[in-house]
This record gives sequence, C-alpha cells and structure tokens, in this order.
Amino acid sequence: MYAEKVLSGMRPTGRLHLGHYHGVLVNWIKLQHEFPCLFFVADWHALTTSYDEPGTIAESTREMVIDWLAAGVDPAQATIFIQSKVPEHAELHLLLSMMTPLGWLERVPTYKDQQEKLEHKDLSTYGFLGYPLLQAADILIYRADKVPVGEDQVPHIEFTREVARRFNHLYGREPGFEEKARLAVKKLGSKRAKLYDELRNRFQEKGEEDAIEQAHHLLDEAQSLSHGDRERLFGYLEGGGKMILVEPDALLTKASRMPGLDGQKMSKSYANTIMLREDAETVTKKIRTMQTDPQRVRRTDPGDPEKCPVWQFHQIYSSDEVKTWVQSGCRSAGIGCIECKQPVIEAVLLEQAPMIERARLYTEDPQLVRNIIADGCERARKLAQETMRDVREAIGLDHS
Ligand code: TRP
Ligand code: SF4
Repeated sequence: MYAEKVLSGMRPTGRLHLGHYHGVLVNWIKLQHEFPCLFFVADWHALTTSYDEPGTIAESTREMVIDWLAAGVDPAQATIFIQSKVPEHAELHLLLSMMTPLGWLERVPTYKDQQEKLEHKDLSTYGFLGYPLLQAADILIYRADKVPVGEDQVPHIEFTREVARRFNHLYGREPGFEEKARLAVKKLGSKRAKLYDELRNRFQEKGEEDAIEQAHHLLDEAQSLSHGDRERLFGYLEGGGKMILVEPDALLTKASRMPGLDGQKMSKSYANTIMLREDAETVTKKIRTMQTDPQRVRRTDPGDPEKCPVWQFHQIYSSDEVKTWVQSGCRSAGIGCIECKQPVIEAVLLEQAPMIERARLYTEDPQLVRNIIADGCERARKLAQETMRDVREAIGLDHS
C-alpha cells in the first residue's frame, strides 16, 4: 500500500508562540498519527528575505525545532529535517527554473504583497521571485500528497500543481507510452484493470474529478506495481505521459482563532504573544495586565465579554461552566477582572507545563536535538534522491 505523504515547512523564526501552537503544531501532531509526515525548517526561504542578516538563522532553527519537539512533534512518527541539509531541493529548484515561465512567478500574489509589506528591504532579487518555486521543489521532491498550510499559502500550492503538471507534460512522454500503459493496466489484474478503465473513461469523457480520486486510490492499493508502471498509470488517467511529479493538495488548516493579548491575532509583529515556553511568572503578569472591556472602568461597572480579549481566551481554554460564570459575572459586575483572568492563567500554565518539561530535556542535552535532526535529514535525503533519479532520467540527464 502506498500511503499518502504529508509535508510542511516553516521558516525559522526562533521561538514559537501559542498562536503557532494552536494554529499549526496541534494540527501537525494530529497528522503525524495518520500519515507519514515530513516537517522541515525552510532555512533557505528565510534567506530570501534575510540575505543581509543571516546570522540568526542557525540559532532560530535550533530553537524552533526544540519548540516543535516540546509541543509534541514526535521524531519516532514524523521526519524532522532542515531544508539546506538536503541539497537535492536546490537541484530540483534549478531544474524546475528552466521550465517555469517568469509570468507565473510574477503573478503569485505573495510576491508583490510581501515586497510592499517589507518595503524597507530590497526584495527585487532573483531568489525572492523564486520563493514559490523553491517551495514547489520542497514539496515535489517528496511527492507529497498533502501540504498543511494556512490560507495565505494556497496560491503557492496551486502554483506547485501547475509546475508539476508542466514538468510531467514536458518530460513524462516516452516512446511507446500508450502500449506501456496498456501493459501496466493488464498487470493490475482483471478486476482492477476493468475498474481502472471505467474510472479513466469517466474522467476523460465526463471530467469527473471523483473518478480520478477513486482511481488514485485504486493505484495506491495496487501493491505489485513497479514504480515506473505506477507513474504511467497515474499519467495515463489524465493524459499522454508518465506522472513523475505528484500534484499536491493543500490541506487547509482552519484559521486558528488564537487571539493575542490585545485581542488581535497573536503575532510577533503586534507584540501581543505568549511564548510556547514562557516562564510562569511572565505569563501570569502578561495575562493579569491584559486589557479588558474598556467600558468597564470600575469594579462596579458591568462589562461586556464580547468587547474583551480575555473572553476570547476563555473561549479557547474554558469549560462551559466557567464560560457561563464569566458571562453572568461580567455582565452583572458580580466578578472582577482579575478574578475572571485567574482560570485563563491556570489553563495556559497547564497547557505549557508538559511543553516546558519536554523542552528542558532537549535544552539540557543539545546532542539529542542534533541527533534527531541528523536522523531526519538522512531519511529525507533518501526520499529526495529517489525522486531526483527519476527527474534526471526523465529529462535525459542520466549520463552514463
Ligand atoms: N512558505 C511557507 C511559509 O511561509 C514555508 C514553506 C517553505 C513551506 N516551503 C514549504 C510550507 C513547503 C509548506 C511546504 O509558511
Ligand atoms: Fe473581560 Fe472578564 Fe473583565 Fe468581563 S470580567 S471585562 S470578560 S476580564
């Protein structure tokens, strides 16, 4: 059985905050039990915007990986690695760059958005324009099926699909493809072969997407297929060539509702964060001094939780019982704000306790982290090398 693969990456931003935890890591931790997962630090992507100050990348990488581990990303389940340690990403990026129309890159919405947002930086570089193509290489080199990302990254996944399609179209053709594909269909066995042909017809004649999906499923379950035949049969479903690179799907992480201390989205740039590993004293102080409903000036003024960022925290952390207590206590001025914040403080500290404990293990023994990364890089590299062999062969670069 060919299991669907999940891949995702994060730029090394250093220590993570609870917004990252609820928005991304909780999802990764769930996925690692359901699929083979690859999670990596996109350190080259960091260079596209920080090429003039690369000094912090290594340190940020280490801290971020410790946070992943602290949060519960399990190196026994998921492969954790660093992009720059798998140089095959760069080779694929280069090869893809030969066939990627400039216009495709210029049209990716993040390109102009980010240039405008980071206007203090000169981002009219080759590398920055190529950001989405490097990301495409990250994904395609593992033939990842699912890529968990936030909404903002969806155009990059779309772009990746287009690049894969173009690559397969250009290099997936081989002499006698049709005959080879027919032979491969036979190898499925008569029952599967019949179903395959039916599904293929349904897609080719009526454009039914779910027929494609079912056919992919059928192929995933066909154990005896060779790699080449698998590529042929995937490709034959949709067109006239092998499917060498796999078109991935975005696995849209539903937007985290993790608010910051001021009620806006939690983000480093708003200075409203609680870090994943932050000491209890600081966390307590940060929550105690959080803004509340501005109308509630005195203890005797009734308040409105809807206008209070503390209430947003209760929505994430509190039981129905506590939430009812907040609603009625706030509106009747029956409770004070400090009192109201106490269960939030306790819940956040409770959530962080096991993470801080796990992080301690890794900060006390940095070799442990190094070993996890080295092991992950080695596993990732093997997969990447397999794809690169096929890619070079398809292009005709297998000089021998
Ligand atoms: N661009 C992604 C971000 O900013 C990071 C990233 C790089 C990535 N390569 C990737 C995410 C591959 C998913 C898959 O968040
Ligand atoms: Fe906010 Fe709670 Fe104070 Fe109401 S009682 S204003 S919800 S902190």
